Amino acid sequence: MKNSKVILVGAGPGDKELITLKGIKAIKAADIIFYDALVNPELLEFARKNTELIYVGKRRNEKRFSQDEIHELLASAAYKYDVIVRLKGGDPFVFGRGSEELNYLENKGIQTEIIPGISSALAVPATQGIPLTKRGLNESFYVITGTTSDGSVSKDLKYGAMSNATLVILMGLKNIEPIIEETLKYRDESTPFAIIQNGTREGESIILDIIQNYETATKMIDYSKPGIIVIGDTVAEHPAFFEEEIQRVLESVLT
Ligand SMILES: C[S@@+](CC[C@H](N)C(=O)[O-])C[C@H]1O[C@@H](n2cnc3c(N)ncnc32)[C@H](O)[C@@H]1O
Repeated sequence: MKNSKVILVGAGPGDKELITLKGIKAIKAADIIFYDALVNPELLEFARKNTELIYVGKRRNEKRFSQDEIHELLASAAYKYDVIVRLKGGDPFVFGRGSEELNYLENKGIQTEIIPGISSALAVPATQGIPLTKRGLNESFYVITGTTSDGSVSKDLKYGAMSNATLVILMGLKNIEPIIEETLKYRDESTPFAIIQNGTREGESIILDIIQNYETATKMIDYSKPGIIVIGDTVAEHPAFFEEEIQRVLESVLT
């Protein structure tokens, strides 16, 4: 085997300027790049002209390679190239299967490196002006998957909903109904929530409401775009939250 290295790079949440300097240096040094669906393709422009670019995205119904095939592609690239970059959306270790890929490669004796990225779980609410913690409001936040392998709602949602934590739910748009219904068992129905889609990238949108009204709010979801759900009192810090709340109250009085 060559003296090669596979570098797992976090591409950040979407805005191409939200990758790390170290991540850009790795892209520039790469002989081959395997990239995911949520990676901003403009980042690939930093690669050298002769760098091979392989799309291995798995978004929605499109799935060109299984996870096992991706492992094999990475391992076989290590026999052919010196610098292999595996570019993943957000941070590779946050619902990114990054550790599975590293374990597979390390078990084969292949050198690896990890370059973290800014997770959408943090960056997307932040760029909208929604803090995940606020002194006096809460002491923690949960980042939860909205899609478990058996399709059910994660049991961690219950524990998060029982506390004052801000709940950040990734991959949850399709399951929004059971997610909010479970939250409603433990949180006040006037708890604010937000659905942010295409965060930090072109076509970014936000839906703001209280969980009681989730059925109306979710009619506005565009299921073709990635989105995160944020639930908790800190969502009211969004600059437009109270404006929209006044609008809602006026509408309910007038109708
Ligand atoms: C497989 S997870 C990967 C998360 C990624 N590793 C991270 O740290 O951001 C994909 C989910 O992240 C969320 N996501 C990623 N980028 C997003 C963005 N720009 N706007 C909204 N949600 C995003 C969505 O919930 C999407 O379904």
